[in-house]
Amino acid sequence: MKAVVLGADDHFRLTEVPDPVPGPGEVAVQVAYAGVQWGDVLVRDGHFPLPRPLVPGFEVAGRIVAVGDGVDQGRVGEQVVALVGGGGYAQVVLAPAALAISAANVDARTAAGFGWSTPTAYALIHTVAGIGPGDSVLIHAGSGGVGTMAAQFAAAAGARRIVGVVGDAERAGYARQFGYHQVLTRAEFPRALGEETFDAVLDPVGGATRTASLALLAPHGRLVVYGNIATFDPVDLSTNDLLMNGQSVLTYNSNLLSRTHPARLAAGAAEALALVANGSVRIDITAEHELADVETALANLASGTTHGKSIIRVR
Ligand SMILES: NC(=O)c1ccc[n+]([C@@H]2O[C@H](COP(=O)([O-])OP(=O)(O)OC[C@H]3O[C@@H](n4cnc5c(N)ncnc54)[C@H](OP(=O)(O)O)[C@@H]3O)[C@@H](O)[C@H]2O)c1
Repeated sequence: MKAVVLGADDHFRLTEVPDPVPGPGEVAVQVAYAGVQWGDVLVRDGHFPLPRPLVPGFEVAGRIVAVGDGVDQGRVGEQVVALVGGGGYAQVVLAPAALAISAANVDARTAAGFGWSTPTAYALIHTVAGIGPGDSVLIHAGSGGVGTMAAQFAAAAGARRIVGVVGDAERAGYARQFGYHQVLTRAEFPRALGEETFDAVLDPVGGATRTASLALLAPHGRLVVYGNIATFDPVDLSTNDLLMNGQSVLTYNSNLLSRTHPARLAAGAAEALALVANGSVRIDITAEHELADVETALANLASGTTHGKSIIRVR
């Protein structure tokens, strides 16, 4: 089969490699489209200690063509979204059977765009922050893959007020189409919010943003930490102060969940997929590349040229 191999020189090359064979508990997925995500850039730039050469790619849509021991043979032929630990930029990828999620009601392009960011956004809004009718939510990195989906899930859940924080005015214009009541630039945060407080704040940024966000929590508010885009610097907080205000700091880690409780991750993903299928939320696919063009797709993502989701056509 053909696969994109990342070499020690940080370049991606379309190469002929052996077809993978599913082991116990795995399925082999014939890939129609693969999603492009920031994790690929981190792999390219050597932030994970992975031996090269390797086939990157964390999210695909396609059809199950073979199953390993312990997996229902009846799944062969099923259309799925597969969340994988790598290998997605290939004609066939192996996935844990539990994370090959039935996607019969969603077209393959949309299913590839679903990726890890959509179930993450769904979990942040529903499972972790517990957003419901009348709640207010502040979403940092509001124009990104997770942020744009989180805004839509919050709106679908009946949130009263949804505010996004983005990098600049151009990003603000892009983000406004996803249901925000207000979008601020990072330069305007938190000053432009005045005395306003929020029932939940979603924070993948860290550092001073996290400290400022704690101060914006309403009584019983939840700060949801799910990344450190800007900095890993520690943030001081007082559990006594949180307790006095009934507030909580919560975290979410989809990668860990995929290893410890894959069925739980898959169940949330299936609920998110149903909202995509019925049109409650929309995945904004703005770029489609050939398998041979993975390097360009990632360069565009890394340079900030890309808005919305990029996908790779494999079929
Ligand atoms: N814990 C989990 O399970 C989980 C799962 C998925 C993702 N994540 C985390 O969530 C983050 C966002 O993922 P994504 O898929 O939405 O990424 P994405 O689509 O690539 O978007 C990146 C976002 O980061 C923002 N950003 C970049 N540099 C920033 C900075 N210095 N300060 C504040 N914001 C900054 C960008 O804002 P502008 O474009 O407006 O500048 C953009 O909204 C990832 O970095 C990752 O750490 C965590």
